[in-house]
Amino acid sequence: MNVDRRFFLLGSALAAQAFQSETPIGTAMIGTGNRGSFLLQGVLKQPNAKVRALCDIKPDRLDKAASAAVRDNPATDADWHRVIERKDVDAVFIATPPYLHSEMAIAAIQAGKHVYCEKPLGVTPAQVRALLAAARGSNKVFVAGQQLRSQKQLGEAVRRIQEGVIGDVIMVKAQRHATADLPHDGTSGDWYFDVTKSGGYLIEQSVHNLDLCNWVIGAHPVRACGFGGILMYRNDPPGRTIFDCGSLTYEYPKGVKMSFTQNVFHPASMPNGNQYVSVYGTKGAVDLMSATLYPPGSGVQPVVLAPKQQEDQFAHIAAFYDSITKGTPPPVDVKVGATAALTAILGHQAMVQEKVVNWSDLGVDV
Ligand SMILES: NC(=O)c1ccc[n+]([C@@H]2O[C@H](COP(=O)([O-])OP(=O)(O)OC[C@H]3O[C@@H](n4cnc5c(N)ncnc54)[C@H](O)[C@@H]3O)[C@@H](O)[C@H]2O)c1
Repeated sequence: MNVDRRFFLLGSALAAQAFQSETPIGTAMIGTGNRGSFLLQGVLKQPNAKVRALCDIKPDRLDKAASAAVRDNPATDADWHRVIERKDVDAVFIATPPYLHSEMAIAAIQAGKHVYCEKPLGVTPAQVRALLAAARGSNKVFVAGQQLRSQKQLGEAVRRIQEGVIGDVIMVKAQRHATADLPHDGTSGDWYFDVTKSGGYLIEQSVHNLDLCNWVIGAHPVRACGFGGILMYRNDPPGRTIFDCGSLTYEYPKGVKMSFTQNVFHPASMPNGNQYVSVYGTKGAVDLMSATLYPPGSGVQPVVLAPKQQEDQFAHIAAFYDSITKGTPPPVDVKVGATAALTAILGHQAMVQEKVVNWSDLGVDV
């Protein structure tokens, strides 16, 4: 290449970058409840974001969000359709109840917006299929809100496992146990306990943990079986349709096994609660959440696989804006987000149908 031309191209790339970083990304937030408020805090910290519109059907939440974003003086609107059509909005965050994600995200994509959509991407295979198709047909950025993938220590531990530090991964044991149900009169109490709106505990919450399992195994499951039920909180809150516990087995390619349990009644004082992912390989095992490697054999000291790092709680949001302004790969693209949602839906269907359900039964090509 001719030297002058090379300098010209370099100059224009730098100029484009400078322009991009000076032009704020007009941003709208749909759903300003618990998670939406947190996301809004993160958006306000991004140097290249300007909050142009806030949307929620609950006026008190909208007011609270408007106060938090007063610096940017955003418009407020209870109608999400109007918000995504705004010309001054380039990017849309969706933090509404799960059954609305797919419809809202598809509409935002079709309106030409970049989309950050909270997990799960859908609560049915049809919702996930439709969103996958829409995002794949768009040249805008799409990020699913599985922010664990933006944690540096976890990422480093997964990378070391994928490099073979414990040989081949052959089994995973994971759980998401909570010490209590979500508050029945809490911020999300009006949709969370309705399985048609949240998808249930596995789809709404364990989707994070199931995504970690897929990540570390490097595949999605081929089939699942298991049982779930409402054993502690029967008809509590009244009309409850989501399970409060479940036990599942997933099988992955090459016969890799994954065992997953969930419940909302693990006493805080009892050990081994909360969330963990134990990864067993042919040459040792890893406790993923602490990034600790346990070599085989007795009397062998555990090894730190990835040191603790300073984590930015808004790293996932920053990565979304980087994808828009710098063209870096999204931290969780639509394929990863859809695969996680479908993994949870697969397990949920197995528990509800009380039979082995195959990935191919879901009818979604990821
Ligand atoms: N990534 C994470 O770690 C994480 C953490 C918490 C929640 N979430 C996800 O965020 C989403 C919201 O959860 P939450 O805890 O904030 O619930 P929430 O009930 O506190 O907030 C949801 C908000 O959406 C609003 N809403 C409902 N229908 C709407 C509509 N048609 N138009 C506009 N707004 C509407 C509600 O009024 C409410 O304010 C869920 O999908 C949840 O799974 C993700």
